[in-house]
Amino acid sequence: MIPLFMFSLLCTVSCSKERGTGGCLLDGVSDGDINAVRLRLAEERERRLLLENDVLLLTLRYAQLHRLFDQAKSPVGFLAKLSNHTTIHTGEVLILDKVDINEGNGYNPALGVFRAPVKGMYLFSVTAMTRGDGLSVDISLKNGDIELARLYSGDIASGRMVGAVSVPAILSENDNIFIKARVMRTGFFGNHYTSFSGVLLQRMTE
Ligand SMILES: *[C@@H]1O[C@H](CO)[C@@H](O)[C@H](O)[C@H]1NC(C)=O
Repeated sequence: MIPLFMFSLLCTVSCSKERGTGGCLLDGVSDGDINAVRLRLAEERERRLLLENDVLLLTLRYAQLHRLFDQAKSPVGFLAKLSNHTTIHTGEVLILDKVDINEGNGYNPALGVFRAPVKGMYLFSVTAMTRGDGLSVDISLKNGDIELARLYSGDIASGRMVGAVSVPAILSENDNIFIKARVMRTGFFGNHYTSFSGVLLQRMTE
């Protein structure tokens, strides 16, 4: 089926060639020519559909990139410190009350738990000081049931001791990170000497 407008186009070309002979003649146009035009039209139509599809895909991808770019601009990280001397027992979570940074609102100072707002590679640091009163610090940094790091600091009664650990972790969205006592009577020095921090290094796609 040859479109009407193509036909009239051929007609016009033919007529202008045959000006003066009277009437529109397609004598010079073979079936082969018409088939070639038909084929060309089909090809062009297909090419147009493919291009329209490409434009649609690119539009979607652009919106996706725009969203990722917006997310990438918002940082995630926290720093919490311990105000008062604190003693906790096996399985209990250390609650660090003084929040200096809480970008993305991941850290909950009522629970002492950081909840990852996005999937990604994070870096956590824990610094703990003992009180020099015979109690040690023996703790785990945990992601739910998984232990990310273990930290011990001295049990001597003669002085205060500091232990520190940094650990990278790949977290899923809503993973919960916290510090848990591994032994009874785990004693921390307050006055901001004991701290817990974390920062999102790199977002990761699901
Ligand atoms: C720290 O200790 C002081 C004095 O006992 C008390 O008033 C304050 O509420 C304590 N802060 C926390 C976070 O427990």
